Amino acid sequence: MSSQFRAIVVDEVSGENGEAAARRRGVLRTLDDDFFSAAGDDDRPLPSTATGVSIDVSYSSINYKDGLAVAGRPGVVRRLPLIAGIDVVGTVTASGDPRWAPGDSVVLNGAGLGESRHGGLSERTVVDGASLLRLPSAISPRRAAALGTAGFTAMLAVMALERQGIGPRSGEILVTGAAGGVGSVAVMLLSRAGYSVTAASGRAATEGDYLRALGAATVIDRAELLQPGKPLQSTRWAGAIDSLGGTSLATVLAQISYGGSVASCGLAAGAELPSTVLPFILRGVNLLGVNSVDAPIALREAAWLRLAGEAQLARLDELSTEIGLSAVPETAEAILAGTVRGRTIVNVRA
Ligand SMILES: NC(=O)c1ccc[n+]([C@@H]2O[C@H](COP(=O)([O-])OP(=O)(O)OC[C@H]3O[C@@H](n4cnc5c(N)ncnc54)[C@H](OP(=O)(O)O)[C@@H]3O)[C@@H](O)[C@H]2O)c1
Repeated sequence: MSSQFRAIVVDEVSGENGEAAARRRGVLRTLDDDFFSAAGDDDRPLPSTATGVSIDVSYSSINYKDGLAVAGRPGVVRRLPLIAGIDVVGTVTASGDPRWAPGDSVVLNGAGLGESRHGGLSERTVVDGASLLRLPSAISPRRAAALGTAGFTAMLAVMALERQGIGPRSGEILVTGAAGGVGSVAVMLLSRAGYSVTAASGRAATEGDYLRALGAATVIDRAELLQPGKPLQSTRWAGAIDSLGGTSLATVLAQISYGGSVASCGLAAGAELPSTVLPFILRGVNLLGVNSVDAPIALREAAWLRLAGEAQLARLDELSTEIGLSAVPETAEAILAGTVRGRTIVNVRA
């Protein structure tokens, strides 16, 4: 007989407060292990307790994508019912995969968690062993969750810029969405590595001190980037890490110096890109895609090793807030509203 555990499950939930129609959203439920073998509305198999890696989760986190999933927005969750949470940090309790054994301390970001596979906003989960990583010993489980997908993505973006030859002496690096998760960790990583960082934020007035404490040399109001402008403008940046997309990304491309690069991570301001080819063909600008979800295992290992060595791990405590599972639905709404600062760690046992 399996014991019960708590999880945030995304499903069509019939209305509270007298709402008649069922609506998709994430709610706190008590489950047992049979949940992992239930087919739901998709008959493609999920990792089971026999074939996958069973994990006692210690921490997860709230990323923008978790906000979308738990708030029931379309485009993230692709099967119902599904345990939400794109990040898992925990300890293996059983494994049908010979690479993993009980007691292993592990971390997993993306790889379909919280989208097409059960995720980490749960006291227990079962994952595919193929993308799982051993947690580097320098990083505590709580700080691994403080990094989470956001920190992993920020490191992938730094590595993408470096592959184009960008380094601390190249010139100013812009980080957009700077007070958010990816942005905060990117500011911290770049400044620690010796880059001069400009942080662009819609909350420059209230979060300026926070961003300077993370290492930003300059803080600008994101409104400067949101006005549609010419496709080539005065150059300001050697490189950029962009979480916003939309007009803001078009402006950033227009302001990149000759041969500079932009790592495009997100779409918090929009999926469109109202630009032209001029920055590419007249200034040799590079637009670099960053995808954490499907990153191959070698890239995952390299990025987490660098996070273990280069992140200012103690500083992660300053840029993160901790909540329990019951506070996940309200935090999901807050991250979509753009009011969450830095990272939110979920202590699934609180
Ligand atoms: N490619 C990948 O693998 C990958 C991985 C992780 C995240 N992402 C994407 O990257 C983006 C950031 O993720 P996150 O987890 O860091 O989210 P987050 O913590 O919510 O940060 C996003 C930040 O963007 C700014 N922002 C929010 N709404 C905005 C709007 N309407 N217009 C302009 N700026 C806005 C805010 O920063 P300020 O208040 O400082 O302006 C906010 O804090 C999301 O689009 C997410 O889906 C992609």
